[in-house]
Amino acid sequence: MSQGLDDIIAAETRLSSVDGAHGILVVKGFSLDQIAGQKSFEDVAWLLFGGLFDDLPDARTFAAQLGHDRSEVFDLVRYIDDGILALPPMDGVRAIMARIADGEDLATATRLLAAPAVLLPAFLRLREGQPPLAPDPRRGHAADMLHMLNGQVAGPETVGALDTYLVTVADHGLNASTFAARVVASTWSGLTSSVLAGFAALKGPLHGGAPGPIIAMLDGIATPDNAEAWIEAALARGDRLMGFGHRIYKVRDPRADALKAAVRRMAKGSNLLPGRLKLAEAVEQAALEILHRHKPDRPLDVNVEFYTALLLEALGFPPDAFTAVFATGRTAGWLAHAREQRLTGRLIRPQSSYVGPEPAAAA
Ligand code: CMC
Repeated sequence: MSQGLDDIIAAETRLSSVDGAHGILVVKGFSLDQIAGQKSFEDVAWLLFGGLFDDLPDARTFAAQLGHDRSEVFDLVRYIDDGILALPPMDGVRAIMARIADGEDLATATRLLAAPAVLLPAFLRLREGQPPLAPDPRRGHAADMLHMLNGQVAGPETVGALDTYLVTVADHGLNASTFAARVVASTWSGLTSSVLAGFAALKGPLHGGAPGPIIAMLDGIATPDNAEAWIEAALARGDRLMGFGHRIYKVRDPRADALKAAVRRMAKGSNLLPGRLKLAEAVEQAALEILHRHKPDRPLDVNVEFYTALLLEALGFPPDAFTAVFATGRTAGWLAHAREQRLTGRLIRPQSSYVGPEPAAAA
């Protein structure tokens, strides 16, 4: 029995591989640095979907279909009422996505892929009392999402930063939310159910919920010379430092460097970002030293979430929406894994070890 299923291989996949000892992520035969900042999100989603849908068209047609589906799912924005707006963005977007009919076909998959990119900006604008902005299918996925969020045509560095982010988080082996999506797929429930399971599993702070609190940590620390005392106090309280540690990576998470590079590129044209980046680098350095001192036997390095926080903040997303942006990218991986699992036809049904009381013996 393995409490966290550590080291258990529970699926065979052609989608991505995570080499935790060497810090290498491979997605469909490409290393992360060959796709992050190099390919668009729609191209990576198309790559992931390859071989999983009989009617998958060429990459251009697929990207056009995704744009068309952004316009179609905009119709769902009318269901974002006050009750939905009172929820955290992750839960609000999930609730509206539940209106998409379950299915196994490519049309269902592209609708689900399009939905968070449209629903999240609409949710955030409505929450601020602003009218939602309709998508423009001619834009790229990242550019359109930013336009729907900010109402401005974003520059290439900004669009590139969001595209890099969405690609970087699109797939990552058998992480908790992908496993949840595969378990649901294995019961033949359908793609909507699998994606909703992915949303549910992603939102916890041990998985995709960490970057919001990272902003709170940076704000709490405020200046580089406060980092050490703040971190020591947090660890003394028994807190975990968000953005550090990983179940699989025993070295630096390669996604952190891809995102840090994107933040650096954005910082060149920004007045505020260089200061924020300097603070983050000081916090990272202090955290690594202190974690090493506290846990000399457990390599704890920076993970994807740390620079995610900086990048998404600079793009104008509020911290409580960061996990939903993560979900916007990871939906590609959930859909591909759900299809891959479904095509095996095999139900995932492990066993548990009973440690409860035995029935009383009959008198
Ligand atoms: N800060 C302080 N202590 C830590 C941290 C941390 N970030 N991460 C692990 N530890 C400690 C942990 O408390 C444990 O100590 P002890 O043995 O005294 O109980 C020891 O290191 C070993 O940790 P573990 O629980 O075996 O590690 P895990 O593989 O279960 O946890 C993790 C991985 C990501 C849940 C954990 O490192 C963590 O909670 N990190 C903070 C939250 C975070 O950044 N989450 C985002 C993860 S990356 C996104 C993704 O790919 O899903």
